Amino acid sequence: MKIAIIGQGYVGLTISAFASEFYEVVGFDTNQNLVDNLNRGISHIEGVQSSIIEKWIKSGRYKATTNGRDIADVDIVIVAVPTPLTSNRQPDLSFLQSACKTVGENVTREVLIINESTSFPGTLRSYIKPMIENFSSSPAEHLYAISPERVDPGRSDFNQKNTPRLYAGLSKEASERTREFYSKFCDNLIEVSSPEVAEAAKLFENTFRQVNIALVNEFAQIAHSLGISVYETLDAANTKPYGFMKFTPSAGVGGHCIPVDPTYLAAVAEEHGAPATFIRRANEVNLEMSEYIVRRVAEDNGGSLKGKNILVVGVAYKPNVADVRETAAELVIEHLRSQGAVVSWHDDVVGNWKGESSSPLQGADIAVVVTKHDSVDEEKILASAPYVFDTTGKVKGVNGL
Ligand SMILES: NC(=O)c1ccc[n+]([C@@H]2O[C@H](COP(=O)([O-])OP(=O)(O)OC[C@H]3O[C@@H](n4cnc5c(N)ncnc54)[C@H](O)[C@@H]3O)[C@@H](O)[C@H]2O)c1
Repeated sequence: MKIAIIGQGYVGLTISAFASEFYEVVGFDTNQNLVDNLNRGISHIEGVQSSIIEKWIKSGRYKATTNGRDIADVDIVIVAVPTPLTSNRQPDLSFLQSACKTVGENVTREVLIINESTSFPGTLRSYIKPMIENFSSSPAEHLYAISPERVDPGRSDFNQKNTPRLYAGLSKEASERTREFYSKFCDNLIEVSSPEVAEAAKLFENTFRQVNIALVNEFAQIAHSLGISVYETLDAANTKPYGFMKFTPSAGVGGHCIPVDPTYLAAVAEEHGAPATFIRRANEVNLEMSEYIVRRVAEDNGGSLKGKNILVVGVAYKPNVADVRETAAELVIEHLRSQGAVVSWHDDVVGNWKGESSSPLQGADIAVVVTKHDSVDEEKILASAPYVFDTTGKVKGVNGL
């Protein structure tokens, strides 16, 4: 069987690496540079080793392409393209639309199309299917299914094989064929009654995290005002063996999922006249954390940050990945600069970001730790500035959340 995977990013390339063991895979992406590198056996995703890509290329099981005609003869199409927010924080389905165009124009025989991109309930039925049909000039009646991706980049204990996967087709045949496809490399497949349930479950999973992160971020502020340790309090609460799940405070939420997916759920809720109060407020609380942190840093440093050399340590959105999408570091830096601080950042995992390079971990007046990669030495952070503010709970003996 031949599979086309549209989008070769975190999700698409991860699936490509697993699927190539059992199927012939064509990885379609619009980014020529990325495709060239993949065809040279160079992976850009932490969880996918270059040696794996190289192996599949050599064996003829995998190739990357920007040419839509290369997906004309496949049996299954997987869609894994970005679903971000627009500048006014509304669902942006433009990448999905362009993926539907590629599929509609090039796939003329009947195939199974599975969407893995995260979007609101109804996307498969009311957006993807009609869009592909609209771009298609062939009478082929495709099968459609959804199987939302749950990959957590940088995580080694849960992967494609042992993370349970939800799925649902628009027809019984689509569901059956979807199960057959994933069962080769996923141990636990869970069918739900409709694509809308699968789409909503994915959004709710990330909304659950967003709301609980906001709650703990608010609690960190309460704990500080009460003069007690948020971490000790959370550890104490976590001794309860049921009814409690520990989340830890941070400078905010980042990545492609938690700051974005809940807004997809809120948008569809409001469109249907249902309230999304928690979701909206949680988003605000998380966004406000950067301002709160900068206020605390200023308070500890005589009230003004003007002219101070501030080093932000860690700009990736989470430890041990190079991903900077929606990173909380961006807002922290913005607020520090608006206070007149001279800001540089250190993050050797990210290297280059927004036209700036990682600075040495030394010589600052103030260091603000936003993300602590395992490779960054705690002693070096402590020696980098006379005042260190830690938002991660990983640097001991300094001020922080
Ligand atoms: N990254 C995660 O941890 C994660 C986890 C679960 C679900 N998701 C969801 O999966 C989807 C993909 O996310 P990602 O993290 O892989 O994104 P990504 O940005 O890492 O990769 C997307 C890739 O799609 C390519 N692309 C854009 N438009 C395209 C088009 N029209 N045709 C072909 N390729 C195109 C881009 O060049 C990029 O390489 C999103 O909906 C996201 O919400 C992501």
